[in-house]
Amino acid sequence: MKDSNQRNLTFRLLGSEETISRRLYELSNESFEHGSPWTVEQFEETRAISHLFYLIAELEGELIAFLSGSIVKPEAEIYNIVVRNQYKRQGIASELIAETKKILQENEITDLFLEVRVSNRPAILLYKKMGFIPVGVRKQYYSNPQEDAVVLKSAV
Ligand SMILES: CC(C)(COP(=O)(O)OP(=O)(O)OC[C@H]1O[C@@H](n2cnc3c(N)ncnc32)[C@H](O)[C@@H]1OP(=O)(O)O)[C@@H](O)C(=O)NCCC(=O)NCCS
Repeated sequence: MKDSNQRNLTFRLLGSEETISRRLYELSNESFEHGSPWTVEQFEETRAISHLFYLIAELEGELIAFLSGSIVKPEAEIYNIVVRNQYKRQGIASELIAETKKILQENEITDLFLEVRVSNRPAILLYKKMGFIPVGVRKQYYSNPQEDAVVLKSAV
């Protein structure tokens, strides 16, 4: 049921001073089929890079989803989009992408890219629904397990 508009669900960009790398990791580790692709330390390191951003979704103050990415004008890239298991299929990832596109429009970004495992059917269906089209394949891009990535692109 897509009832997020009736709940106290809020979206906001994470401030650079907020230290929630462990929570990002734990959410990611629970949600990804093969566990978190990033360690706590990698989340910590990326938090310090100025052209990276984290858009987080909170329900009654609890972190339930996030989208991370980078902005290098005129393009942007999504690195991760992760929703806590119990909140999947409620339109939250779709809302995160729509909110991200609004932010990117304000920053004069024209194109948005991402890579995803070829086997990640839920994510590929999500991205196609949100207007992304396949533009390439990166052979054996992922490890643990090794797998190709499909590159997707959307106009912003
Ligand atoms: C992929 C993921 C982010 C989707 O989040 P979500 O909030 O459940 O997605 P939404 O509810 O917005 O779904 C939008 C559409 O995506 C598709 N979709 C999402 N999950 C799906 C699933 N398990 N099976 C089939 N289609 C799915 C559907 O078309 C859905 O629309 P519908 O519900 O009207 O049919 C979530 O499953 C997740 O966190 N997965 C683990 C992390 C991951 O793989 N991230 C992507 C790689 S970076």
